[in-house]
Amino acid sequence: MKIGIFADPEAVADVAATLVITAMARTENRSLGVSTGSTPLPLYARLREAHARGEFTLEGVRAYSLDEYVGLPVEHPQSYRRVLFNELVGEGRTGLREEDLHTPNGHAEDVFAEAARYEESVIDARIKLQILGIGTNGHIGFNEPGTSLSARTHVEVLAKQTRSDNARFFGDDPDAVPELCITQGAGTIMEAKKLLLLATGATKATAVRAVVEGGISMHWPGSVLQWHDSVVLLADEEAAAELENADLYKERWELTTRRNM
Ligand code: PGA
Repeated sequence: MKIGIFADPEAVADVAATLVITAMARTENRSLGVSTGSTPLPLYARLREAHARGEFTLEGVRAYSLDEYVGLPVEHPQSYRRVLFNELVGEGRTGLREEDLHTPNGHAEDVFAEAARYEESVIDARIKLQILGIGTNGHIGFNEPGTSLSARTHVEVLAKQTRSDNARFFGDDPDAVPELCITQGAGTIMEAKKLLLLATGATKATAVRAVVEGGISMHWPGSVLQWHDSVVLLADEEAAAELENADLYKERWELTTRRNM
């Protein structure tokens, strides 16, 4: 795992944007895994700015969401399809075409069959770069503690912690946060060629420590990333505050970046 530690979320977003822009420019298979939540928003803003300057486009890129709530109307401002549409779709944003934005259908009559269909479409896409956030409980996607680290796309019950963390998007009411979602499994996420994990803010410090320096365990689902050979973690100082080896990671980042490794 390559670990970069930066002063604040804005500095994290600058580096993340460079990585995404480079990865999407270089590849034949232009498929990008996108995530929601607050963490990637400054990154998406950078991508929109680069698009406005004519330096970058997601036109022709197929984008795949990590997850979607079950039961929220598509037009609900917090449905992940709506969030990602507003952030990324269209010439006014990043050039991503609406038909190239793929999200699980949280309204399917049979959500289990929909999870299986989405799994197949993600695997077929061979995701080149997957953007990830981390939950305060260590979830990636919505793989909550206790979920198999080799799980494929499935219907998941949201942890109480997650519903309380996400209440801020639902008028501060945890009960308004859906109870179920469809999420790529940790095993599905691990199939992406490269993973870009973003963590900012003090609330993430314990999860970052557990995921990076703890044992691989379904108690902290993000810890499975230790087993992937191409992960970049970009954290701000607050999220990295509990890392025991922070100085080593900084030194390694500095040296390998300078030598273009
Ligand atoms: P956040 O969510 O970016 O809103 O903190 C991250 C996550 O739950 O994966």
